[in-house]
Amino acid sequence: MSTSELRKKYLEFFAQKGHVVIPSSSLIPENDPTTLFTGSGMQPMVPYLLGQKHPQGTRITDSQKCFRSQDIEEVGDNRHTTFFEMLGNWSLGDYFKQEQIPWMWEFLTTEVGLDPNRLYFTCFKGNEELGIPRDTEAAELWQKLYKEKNIDAGIGEDPEKDGMKPGERIFYYSEKKNWWSRSGVPGNMPVGEPGGPDTEMFWDFGVELGLHETSEWKDSPCHVNCDCGRFMEIGNNVFMEYQKTENGFEKLQQQNVDFGGGLERIAAALNGNPDVFRIDVFEDAIFLLEEKTKLRYQSEPFTAEYVFSSGNKLETEKIQDGTYPISQKEITYAFRVILDHIRAATFLISDGVLPGNKDQGYFVRRLIRRAVRFGLKLRIKENFTSFVADCFINYYSSAYANLNEKRIDILNELEKEEKKFRNTLEQGLKKFESIIKDKNALDDNVIDGVQAFDLVQSYGFPIELTLELANERALKVDLQGFENEKNRHQELSRQASEQKFKGGLADHSEMSLKYHTATHLLHAAVQKVLGPHAVQKGSNITPERLRFDFAHGEKMTPEQIAAVEELVNAAIERDYPVGFEILPLEEARKRGAMGLFGDKYEDMVKVYSVGDPKELPVADPKAPTFSRELCGGPHVEHTGVIGKFKIVKEEAVSAGVRRIKAVVE
Ligand code: ALA
Repeated sequence: MSTSELRKKYLEFFAQKGHVVIPSSSLIPENDPTTLFTGSGMQPMVPYLLGQKHPQGTRITDSQKCFRSQDIEEVGDNRHTTFFEMLGNWSLGDYFKQEQIPWMWEFLTTEVGLDPNRLYFTCFKGNEELGIPRDTEAAELWQKLYKEKNIDAGIGEDPEKDGMKPGERIFYYSEKKNWWSRSGVPGNMPVGEPGGPDTEMFWDFGVELGLHETSEWKDSPCHVNCDCGRFMEIGNNVFMEYQKTENGFEKLQQQNVDFGGGLERIAAALNGNPDVFRIDVFEDAIFLLEEKTKLRYQSEPFTAEYVFSSGNKLETEKIQDGTYPISQKEITYAFRVILDHIRAATFLISDGVLPGNKDQGYFVRRLIRRAVRFGLKLRIKENFTSFVADCFINYYSSAYANLNEKRIDILNELEKEEKKFRNTLEQGLKKFESIIKDKNALDDNVIDGVQAFDLVQSYGFPIELTLELANERALKVDLQGFENEKNRHQELSRQASEQKFKGGLADHSEMSLKYHTATHLLHAAVQKVLGPHAVQKGSNITPERLRFDFAHGEKMTPEQIAAVEELVNAAIERDYPVGFEILPLEEARKRGAMGLFGDKYEDMVKVYSVGDPKELPVADPKAPTFSRELCGGPHVEHTGVIGKFKIVKEEAVSAGVRRIKAVVE
């Protein structure tokens, strides 16, 4: 069965069960400013899970294009991809566990024909503190289905500790594994977000492959959620019936099912090969790359270690004379990066994103450039990305007609970007080598921030590339120095552009910076005085004042207003430094950043700290860090320049939302 047939089968199966088949939404979310990309099938469905009526009814099914940019660096193993299709079926307050579980079983074992002996399931263990019970219903449903196939399925209590005991096929895990919401585990969910326990489905590629014994996890017991690769999660049934409240959870007004299945992963299970790049989707593109490189794509375990051999020359020289050594592992890794990245870029361009320097365009550029760089490792000297893209357009056009319609545009964009990058690379590599030469002469092994930034600024040589190249030569890059240099540069160019305007304008933007930073101080102070519920609901800045809306049920007392003012002024007096870092969302969250955490799959985020970026924020002017917030900037460099802060008005905006107007003098 081809992957296209599998998709079709799934949609037909659920259509027969009364579902309306809807087309995939765009990879670029509509009306959702909290996230750059659609990273799961449920993202476009949130309003309907919360109770809004879906125009197509209560049973919906689709195959949703997804892109997870935070996985860019993960690509290279046998199962991570940035782009994938998520098979979805939803009950919007319609059926629940009793239907969903037997249907999934029927689909996998009868329709797809997967061997039930190789299927495993996990269920939610329950958590008293959260008031969410153990999902014995799901576990028993799976058990009953096994029984019908004459399989006695045991239930494992603590697989992470005990591993899998003989006969066990169903396992309980905590909310770390068997809970799903857009923001992840219950503790990370904002008030109002829907979520629920889930039951996940795993495929066993077989103990005989020896994946666990040869992996870095060999010293701990293998279980279905182990990362050794023997088991692969192929789908997740979320029973979305809870909503986060101020103090815990309450039941939603309706019971929903949100199923998400990895199309490529189910295809890999069917293919009996844990390497997802071995499914038919990639076949033509692999063939093309093999022709171009005269190298062979191989899945693990690798038979040949090195394909070429040579002396110890630097990589650029090796590339030039063509005798550098490359291991089969590196070849396979590079093939996978190219396959994944070009497929993702192809789909993103078809959804209207062009390579560029910001937002989604930045990721398309990064995907293409990274693919080219890995092509270089394989010694592909001429432009190749559009050829690879063409293979994917051919494969996917029957399901995604817009790929074919936009074929010429897609190929042109890739060609243009690749050409640009190859020119840049040549210059950048030369510069990089000259830096290295100087370093070697001085016995210095750190590329400093100014040098790394200069490579970006003057040669468009991406920092990732500098990191990768440095890593290959056991050199370090001073990343903090790089960030500092970048900040300094941004500040300088901002000042330069302001100076082009007449004085008044420059003053205006200076005032806006002050008000912007004052808004962060105010947000932190309001939460400190009124409580953590008082989150920002809106903000507006002019050169004359700031306006700040926040969640709070009643009028602030004069004492509260005075306390907030006092905190903000004390923070200004303390003259905290203000700066930003770019962090993975999870890390930002861990460091106590406030802001919109709408989506678990959001990418890298910009986080501004008032005070020490390494300390947790506490809105107390005696603390090393006063505030930390997700924000695009810009801000003043230190709080002392803001001046005296004064609240001029506190009023209601709507039910549960208050507004503060404030000025600085
Ligand atoms: N929304 C669920 C997931 O992404 C199905 O895993």
